[in-house]
Amino acid sequence: MPAQRTLILLKPDAVQRGLVGEILARFERKGLRIVGLKQIVPTTEQATKHYAEHAQRPFFPSLLSFITSSPLIALCLEGDSAITVARTLIGATDARLAAPGTIRGDFGLSKGNNLVHGSDSPEAAERELAIWFTDGLITWTKVDTVWVEG
Ligand code: RTP
Ligand code: MG
Repeated sequence: MPAQRTLILLKPDAVQRGLVGEILARFERKGLRIVGLKQIVPTTEQATKHYAEHAQRPFFPSLLSFITSSPLIALCLEGDSAITVARTLIGATDARLAAPGTIRGDFGLSKGNNLVHGSDSPEAAERELAIWFTDGLITWTKVDTVWVEG
């Protein structure tokens, strides 16, 4: 599979519980590369666009209040099959039922407050990255560390 990019959100519950480092470490250790990272409090408009597919669902109002309630971390990860790989690391939607070893399975106990979002298809990734990274992404290749003298 060629390299893909995926949009990940570390939702407000992950940030408030101090799990950002732990979750980022799991993605990095797997080999996915961070090409975008920012902490923001999303606007209602931004969150509505992001979760547009769920607009008619009964949980939509509470999902919107949750996701706009306090800072979240938006991430773009890049790597071979990044979309599927990230979703596998994240685990099932309902954190109570998510498998141990997954992020939701290890840290969550709720279906709504389930810590992480991951794009579920290449089309979704493209659409979502345009919502969260209007200012672009940083593309880089691995280089030897440049040491500062002194
Ligand atoms: P996500 O989009 O956040 O990565 O999650 P997902 O694909 O695993 O699940 P999805 O069906 O797309 O649901 C989006 C988010 O809505 C909240 N939700 N609450 N209370 C409920 O029944 C319910 N169902 C979904 C969760 O925060 C879920 O991640
Ligand atoms: Mg989803």
